[in-house]
Amino acid sequence: MEWGMANRLARLIQSDGHCLFMPIDHGYFQGPTRKLEAPGETLEPILPYADAVFVTRGVLRSAINPAGTKPIILRVSGGTSMVGADLANEGITTDIDEVIRLNASAMGLSIFVGTDYEKESLLNLSKLVNEGEKYGIPVMAVTAVGKELDKRDARYLALASRIAAELGARIVKTYWCENFERVVNGCPVPVVMAGGPQTETELEVFQFVHDGIQKGAIGVNLGRNIWQNEHPVAMIRALRAVVHDDATPEQAQEIYDTVKNE
Ligand code: 5RP
Repeated sequence: MEWGMANRLARLIQSDGHCLFMPIDHGYFQGPTRKLEAPGETLEPILPYADAVFVTRGVLRSAINPAGTKPIILRVSGGTSMVGADLANEGITTDIDEVIRLNASAMGLSIFVGTDYEKESLLNLSKLVNEGEKYGIPVMAVTAVGKELDKRDARYLALASRIAAELGARIVKTYWCENFERVVNGCPVPVVMAGGPQTETELEVFQFVHDGIQKGAIGVNLGRNIWQNEHPVAMIRALRAVVHDDATPEQAQEIYDTVKNE
């Protein structure tokens, strides 16, 4: 692997082989998502505990201090909205020159396997990988399910993750599911887990993240279950312990309860 690519991946994936990415990209199709109306304010207290931030260029420029040193994963797909005809009909939104100018450590793009726009989104991924590889910039592929949250099963996610890896993604972001080992074992590149909509309890998040890590995920790209929580710092610190320190869900719960009362 070229030095630049290896260096960018090393900034994202920590020396223990794990990572906690902080996505705040939701507005690119959802608009001002709850608790992300002012992304800079939401991010500020939790940023020290994140290994990287997943964000569009617009929010990067307007809400993130360029003097900071956190690696940036730039969301470079979009062009659709929650109220439009089809969320799967995304294109590439950001030129590679802009990605380089913004000093991004990686690029992120969604693929929509099994939809009417499967081919377009997979060819978008291939094109992005072609560009990224020229400059040593890794691509994180996002196995998107749009509004169809029930697609989150091992058969579908293993299929989508494997295709993303085959087309050259250096990291695959997917959802945790039952039998998650099927997803990880079928995917030859590192897998990170998204969180999805906010769960009823914190423990549910600690449990699925712990299960996913035990089954081979290298970490998380998990947003709403952190920054929509009433105690986001407690939540991110507890999840960091699961991802980086092998904490059990119960130990994570203890960290959450302690930190939230500080
Ligand atoms: C939204 C995304 C998010 O980065 C991803 O879904 C992770 O966030 P969350 O944990 O809130 O689901 O791709 O477009």
